[in-house]
Amino acid sequence: MSVRHFLTLRDLSPDELMQIIDRAIEMKALHKQGGVGEPFKNKVLAMIFEKSSTRTRVSFEAGMSQLGGSALFLSSRDTQLGRGEPIEDSARVLSRMVDLVMIRTFEHEKIERFAQFSRVPVINALTDDYHPCQLLADIQTYVEHRGSPKGKTVAWIGDGNNMCHSYINAAAMCDFKLNIACPEGFDPNSQLVAEHSDRVMVTRDPKEAVKNADWVVTDVWASMGQEAEQKEREAQFAGYQVNHEMMAWANKDAIFMHCLPAHREEEVSADLLEDEKISVVWDEAENRLHAQKALMEFLLSC
Ligand code: CP
Ligand code: NVA
Repeated sequence: MSVRHFLTLRDLSPDELMQIIDRAIEMKALHKQGGVGEPFKNKVLAMIFEKSSTRTRVSFEAGMSQLGGSALFLSSRDTQLGRGEPIEDSARVLSRMVDLVMIRTFEHEKIERFAQFSRVPVINALTDDYHPCQLLADIQTYVEHRGSPKGKTVAWIGDGNNMCHSYINAAAMCDFKLNIACPEGFDPNSQLVAEHSDRVMVTRDPKEAVKNADWVVTDVWASMGQEAEQKEREAQFAGYQVNHEMMAWANKDAIFMHCLPAHREEEVSADLLEDEKISVVWDEAENRLHAQKALMEFLLSC
């Protein structure tokens, strides 16, 4: 059988996705009771980073270590990839030496090309187009706090970016409705929206999106690689800040998520981010650890 990769959420079936979420919840509980032993003994994960990271790097590295394996941090600055060695060659070489490869890069096409030439599972740890690992943690967090997301309404406020695209995929896989509010010029991929037009709505009005939502999410207005646009974007996204006033339009028990890092007083007010009755961002960050352990276990067992 061919190798299973995790480049977008759609690489899993809805059942497999929920199986990973359930296992992540179980692994979190077992971790707090002393761990699950060393099922990954002698397993090695290569982690290629072409962009910065705190949560992704630490959660993968700690996760491998907790399960008895090890992780190699490979910055493109210090490998031959950064000096122009073809992706196809790097994929063939690395995948003869390690058991899993995790990549954070710019163009999504690069990770697809790497996966095509890899003998071992490749995990997308963020590209310009998708951030599926974050969605595993977000879904786990919703399930832990509110139960199944099936039939719920999620509001995405802000840029139609990599996180937004992964939320569109999650909507289809978990069967929830997704209202997206973004300024003109910052819409998510139109083809992806059209494919899911039965459950995904795009509006310019954040209040319309948040109305009756059970789960409200935002992300930075300028993603990695867009730093030069920061100032311009701050002006273009005025009115899109998620704060208590905006949350008042949502359902009473709605929760707030943000993949972090957050820019306080830009896409989210400091008060809301710190309001632990509504904001579950710290649990969301913690869950990266357990969701990815469950993902790696799944991929290694395929
Ligand atoms: N949310 C997330 O992916 O964080 P890092 O950029 O710190 O890895
Ligand atoms: N959209 C953000 C997510 C960071 C985790 C970015 O790509 O920079």
